[in-house]
Amino acid sequence: MNKQDQEFRNRTALVTGGSRGIGRAICLALAEKGANVALNYVQNRDAAAKVKHDIEAMGSRCGIYRADVSDPKAVEAMVADVAEEIGPVEFLVTAAGIAHLGDHTEIDLDLWQQIMRVNVDGTFLPVMAVKDGMIERGFGRIVCIASIAGLAPRGQMLPYSTSKAAVIAFARSCAQAFAPDVRVNCLAPGLIDTDMSAAMGAPARHAMREAAFLKRTGRPEEMAKTVLYLLSEQSSFMTGQTLVADGGRVTLP
Ligand SMILES: NC(=O)c1ccc[n+]([C@@H]2O[C@H](COP(=O)([O-])OP(=O)(O)OC[C@H]3O[C@@H](n4cnc5c(N)ncnc54)[C@H](OP(=O)(O)O)[C@@H]3O)[C@@H](O)[C@H]2O)c1
Repeated sequence: MNKQDQEFRNRTALVTGGSRGIGRAICLALAEKGANVALNYVQNRDAAAKVKHDIEAMGSRCGIYRADVSDPKAVEAMVADVAEEIGPVEFLVTAAGIAHLGDHTEIDLDLWQQIMRVNVDGTFLPVMAVKDGMIERGFGRIVCIASIAGLAPRGQMLPYSTSKAAVIAFARSCAQAFAPDVRVNCLAPGLIDTDMSAAMGAPARHAMREAAFLKRTGRPEEMAKTVLYLLSEQSSFMTGQTLVADGGRVTLP
């Protein structure tokens, strides 16, 4: 195994929202590289247990941690438990998130706050819980999963797109604040084949597919490869960036 393949071996990675979709694929990709994976979920224990089983079948370690990422106490406790049971977090991926697709007339303060809590507080809290340890130890890599909805107008996703723009701004600012030993980047996926996109309904998915140069949805495994790149030494001169992986729906003007 070459040096590049060794860089995750026996190191601790925490992935929020690791039970399903993009987070699940990231957990499996990290485990394939030999990382010890701490997998966070909130509800779906069976799905989390299945990912743990698959990771252990590869010969890697995995712990599953139930915590609502928008709950400060739960996140603090999770990060402390991960440190004790697996090791201090060296790689953090914030993939937990929720979405809402619908007309602006459907939006009220409750829905707005629910999305902000999970997507924005749920990024802020895990990052803040791990960053001091990373800075002290002189090593840390963080990837926040944003969305192209945070980069382009989304009239049917007002709270979601605002929350993802906040994630991008937060990660960019953290990159400056935690430098030089901790790198922080974002991934902005387009439409990816997961439970979240399935819930958007066939007509919306069709329109999004048609809007992409590649005329297809992305696979969670494709997102995982990009996240591993951002976590790895291959992206050693990148921090504060948002990498778009969307089949060509959002490009520079
Ligand atoms: N799919 C897309 O097209 C797409 C596009 C752009 C960006 N994204 C972003 O990519 C990320 C992953 O999306 P996905 O499509 O993989 O979603 P998904 O299939 O719906 O999975 C969501 C994951 O987040 C977890 N989660 C939700 N609320 C949580 C909370 N309060 N605390 C802890 N975990 C929570 C879920 O845990 P349980 O299993 O326990 O419910 C699950 O593991 C999200 O941030 C999403 O906004 C997705």
